[in-house]
Amino acid sequence: PTLVAPKANDSSFIAKMKSSGKNIVVFYGSQTGTAEEFALRLVKEAARYGMKALYPADPEECEMEELSKLSEINNSLVIFCMATYGEGDPTDNASAFYEWLKSEEPDLTGVNYAVFGLGNKTYEHFNSMGKFFDKRLEELGATRVVEAGVGDDDGNMEEDFLTWKDTLWPAVLDFFGLEMNLQEISMRQYRLEIPDVPSEKLFTGEIARLRAYQTQRPPFDAKNPFLAQVTAWRELHKGGDRSCMHIELDISNSKLRYDAGDHVAVYPVNDPALVNRFGELLSVDLDTPISLVNIDDQSTKKHPFPCPCTYRTALSHYLDITSNPRTHVLKELAEHTTSFEEKQKLLMMASSSVEGKELYQQWVLQDNRSLLHILEDLPSCKPSLDLVCELLTRLQSRYYSISSSSKLHPETVHITAVLLKYTTPTGRINKGVATTWLASKKPQLDQPPHQIPIFIRKSQFRLPARHQTPIIMIGPGTGVAPFRGFIQERLKMKREGKPVGDTVLFFGCRKKTEDFLYEEEFYEGIQEGILTLHTAFSRDQPDKKVYVTHLLKEQGDYIWRIISEESGHIYVCGDARNMARDVHDIIVDICSKYGKLSSSEAHAFVKKLETQRRYSADVWS
Ligand code: FAD
Ligand code: 2AM
Repeated sequence: PTLVAPKANDSSFIAKMKSSGKNIVVFYGSQTGTAEEFALRLVKEAARYGMKALYPADPEECEMEELSKLSEINNSLVIFCMATYGEGDPTDNASAFYEWLKSEEPDLTGVNYAVFGLGNKTYEHFNSMGKFFDKRLEELGATRVVEAGVGDDDGNMEEDFLTWKDTLWPAVLDFFGLEMNLQEISMRQYRLEIPDVPSEKLFTGEIARLRAYQTQRPPFDAKNPFLAQVTAWRELHKGGDRSCMHIELDISNSKLRYDAGDHVAVYPVNDPALVNRFGELLSVDLDTPISLVNIDDQSTKKHPFPCPCTYRTALSHYLDITSNPRTHVLKELAEHTTSFEEKQKLLMMASSSVEGKELYQQWVLQDNRSLLHILEDLPSCKPSLDLVCELLTRLQSRYYSISSSSKLHPETVHITAVLLKYTTPTGRINKGVATTWLASKKPQLDQPPHQIPIFIRKSQFRLPARHQTPIIMIGPGTGVAPFRGFIQERLKMKREGKPVGDTVLFFGCRKKTEDFLYEEEFYEGIQEGILTLHTAFSRDQPDKKVYVTHLLKEQGDYIWRIISEESGHIYVCGDARNMARDVHDIIVDICSKYGKLSSSEAHAFVKKLETQRRYSADVWS
């Protein structure tokens, strides 16, 4: 494929590097912002080592064919921070570049590079993008300056990054024959301006265009979300102390289309109580309008989030105020901490010493402290709020597997979401950002309907093209969401008199009387003769757990027949950490046992099912 030329007319990164005397460019493939954040940290750090790096660059906005021209710049280096997304896929912003690099043969002789890959070991195709870029660039003649770094989000991504960074800079200096000469320079990237603008010029939570929520204009996507009305909201749990919400969102008049299996993304808003806490702890009037303006006027990113807006808007809509801060944030905070002990503690955690890493692991990650918790627990730490706004990362949209079928519900998208709430080791109650916010969206009599910003993300998780093809769906807990859509679709076919193949659901939950989601609907499917349901109630018997995996084992003979003789499809949805992995192993065992295959043959068999999209997973951790 040829790369589509980016729209911006200043997309030549080589021209920019030459005109501004920069010798390093850092590209990122980022879906949720972490790779972009790491790229930014590298750009900032390069300056400390006396090198000049171009702002973090988005491959989607640059002419990537220019890569080979890097050899024209003396002592030049390209760094890639590349995340792997979904089932071993590139992130959206890197996919065109990935396809191009995979199929074209640009001569990259004379190009020096380093790669840091971001992934999650919970997933099967761990870090496949990092590995691909590292290998492919070498194949095309480029020179690797340092071993690729491998970040594992299931372990400690921050530590992986720090460890890699410790090898990166010395290797780069060595490669270019430069002396280590650390410079103390300001790490600030944005300066604070207090804008003098009328209130209608302030952003109030829009993602890109000012007043986009007052005057909605299609097409709607991640940068231009649709404000969907909440038309239904109900509790799905019948007992117990947890909550699972069923929410219906109106997408009529949006021109948004979806298929069963797609995801809907929601832009949440932070808990106002937490937002207010920032104002209290740092003694700032949160309704002050601000603008954070990039100090580097070459950067394509003028502001870290839509500006001007108030502190309150930034902290409510644009910034992730609940995650555990990374170590470079602690280092910055140390500069604004007056107590000697507290400052030392922050500096220790930000250092790359063994004790420092251990302390960070314990005090921040294990004890689950957010920036707010740190400000509470280190009372002499008083950074300016604009610095805090610069240090916090962007609040991300949350994805939900759509739990309806557009064939039955073309005008609504359904969400099935479990409310997240837990106590941290410091005794604080942490509440999930999006689910807590969604929990407050119950329609109220005499009140206008709630509206929430959404967009739809297409997925590969699809019903087979033929309705006669048998399907086996494995979805415990909220993993059942997309299968509700699949079942609705097949029920409609059946009602229209069309032949429908075996439709088998393995559902699991804790107790039949508490968290059996959509019980009545599924019984309807059984009564109408399209659905076969196998249920595992893990906590209904005192002595042992029963999981969907146990039921799969019992049905091994049938499952093997469906995949081997009837070209059936298998679907798994829900928890990536344990469930999806266990299910995968059991399916391999079933193929081995009933198909009389050796272990390696059975693995190869399931691999083949995956490539034929007859074994599909929609999983999250
Ligand atoms: P957040 O504020 O994002 O908090 C979540 C974080 O809290 C976790 O990442 C973890 O770091 C931490 N955490 C959670 N529990 C604990 C604990 N006990 N102890 C310590 N730390 C903890 N969810 C659904 O409910 N239904 C779906 O259909 C669904 N589909 C999804 C599809 C995809 C493709 C993806 C990627 C995710 C899906 N999710 C689904 C998950 C969903 O996107 C959100 O992650 C989830 O709702 C939590 O969001 P939140 O903002 O409420 O929590
Ligand atoms: P548990 O919470 O009692 O351990 C939905 O979350 C259901 O999936 C629950 O009944 C949960 O049981 C169960 N579950 C937990 N781990 C699982 C695994 N590895 N495989 C299948 N089901 C699992």
